Order: sequence, then structure tokens, then C-alpha cells
Amino acid sequence: MRVIRKITELRAFVQAQKASGCSIGLVPTMGYLHEGHLALARKAREDNETVIMTIFVNPLQFGPAEDFDSYPRDLARDRLQAEAAGVDLLFAPEVEEMYPKQPAAALKVLARTNCLCGKKRPGHFDGVATVLTKLFHLMQPDRAYFGMKDAQQAAVIEGMVESLNFPLEVVTVETVREADGLAKSSRNVHLTPEEREAAPQIYQALLKGQRMIEQGERHPAPIIQEIASHLQKYSRAAIDYVELLSYPELEPVKTIQGKIILAAAVKYSAARLIDNIVMNCE
Ligand code: PAJ
Repeated sequence: MRVIRKITELRAFVQAQKASGCSIGLVPTMGYLHEGHLALARKAREDNETVIMTIFVNPLQFGPAEDFDSYPRDLARDRLQAEAAGVDLLFAPEVEEMYPKQPAAALKVLARTNCLCGKKRPGHFDGVATVLTKLFHLMQPDRAYFGMKDAQQAAVIEGMVESLNFPLEVVTVETVREADGLAKSSRNVHLTPEEREAAPQIYQALLKGQRMIEQGERHPAPIIQEIASHLQKYSRAAIDYVELLSYPELEPVKTIQGKIILAAAVKYSAARLIDNIVMNCE
């Protein structure tokens, strides 16, 4: 596996792959890799001749009061894991390499952001869309891989790729969980032992909502209420949001029908965690 930190070297690598007719799969990450990231890399390995993973903690998508500085980083460990998952090239640029001067243009996301994390983190998805636009231009991937753990991000990127005709396929991968159900996240390392013990209750709360729908409930309000009260009782966290929306449009629904998302975000002392369930309802 090669590790590249400079754009000029990356361009040469990409050009060589294109010249030899290799399909490129791109796995964008912010590093501190876990099984969730590696599931994306393995899927990319199955589908493509060349797999590029990026590790870049993108300052543009963090708000001023958010955790850009404390976001966990460990490139030495990430290298080993990426290589074992079959990555051919790891692109890990410094911030100055990606944003050497005040940018003259940026992406603005126009849909699917006035809810969930988009509402709580103003500008976040503009930052995600902007960095991905740069990465798509640099890597020219045939396919790009995203996790359903960040379902709103996947919906936003699918919308962006469709609206702006990026010549690539967006591939989504199911959420990878710990044995106790907690969604794997780089931010889980910031949980205290007591918080870590309670955190699987986020998924348990969402499962309760899912069961209510399976048992025939078709009104969002009682489901949201049940999830929120479970979180209040058992998660040891402050609720940031609980929402039930259509997916991937992310519109409010009066009656539950078709594809929907149940999503929650909670705040622990040093980590904000998100989780969701996307399901098809009759
Ligand atoms: P990051 O949080 O590092 O996640 C990188 C990718 O891994 C995303 O597509 C995310 O959905 C996926 N992922 C994270 N945890 C997962 C899990 N438990 N199961 C399955 N997939 C999981 O998301 C970002 O970085 C950034 O916003 C990025 C897209 C790289 C743009 O900066």
C-alpha cells in the first residue's frame, strides 16, 4: 500500500490507474479507523481494481464549538488497518495541502439539510459536500463508498451527485455495530466507562421504535415519544434530536408509509453520538 500526502503525487497515481484502465473505488474517511470504515474498504476492494482511501479531518465541516481539535487521530495505526483491508493507496493530506489559501468557491447543499444533523450543525453538510467535491475531482472514482451510520450524509451526497452529474456511483454500506449494538464510531473513545455502558441504549431505543412500526403503529408522534423516553431513562445522555422522516428525501411524514428513517443524536460529556434505522413500511 502506498501512502501519499501531496496532491501532485496523487494526480500522477490516479493518471497511471486511469491510463491502464483500472476502475477506482474511493473510501473517504476522517481516520481513526474502525470496522465500519474497513467494511467500506472491503466492499470497495470487491468492486474495483484500485482502492483509494482518504484520511482527512476536514476543518470545513466542523463548527467553531465542535471537536475538530480533539477529533482522534492515529495515522500509524490507520495505515496497518487500511493495508490489511486491501487499500492500494492511502491519501492523507495536511490541512494546508487541501486548503492552501482562502477558497474562491464552495458547495452549498440545497436539500435534505433542514433536519437531523443539518439543523443542529449549520454549514456542516456544505463542508462535507465541498471536501467531497475536491476528492471526487482529485480521485475521479468510478464508485464512492459511504456508511449508513451517517444516513443523512449518504442522502445528501446522493442528491449532490445526481444534481451535479458527478460521473460516479454512490454505494452505501450497512452500519457496523459493537457486539452490544452500539454503532462503531471514532468518537466512542471519548466515552467514560459509565457512558460506554449506557450508550447501546441509543440503538435499543431505535429498535423499540422499529418494533412499534412493525406492530402496526403508523403515526410518528407516539414512536418519537417512546424513543425519547427510553433515551431519557437509560442512555445517560442529553437528547439532541429524535426524528422520523421519509428517506432519502428527509421530509416530515404524517402517516408512516414507504421508506423511512428513525434517527437520534445524543450528547455525552465529550462526544455527540448519532444512530439510525432505515426501514421499508407497507
Ligand atoms: P468518518 O466519520 O470518518 O466516516 C467515514 C465513512 O465511514 C462514512 O461514510 C461513514 O458513514 C462510514 N462509517 C462510520 N462509522 C460507520 C459504521 N459504524 N458502520 C458503517 N459505516 C460507518 O463521514 C465522514 O468521515 C466525513 O464526513 C467524510 C465523508 C470523510 C467527509 O469529510
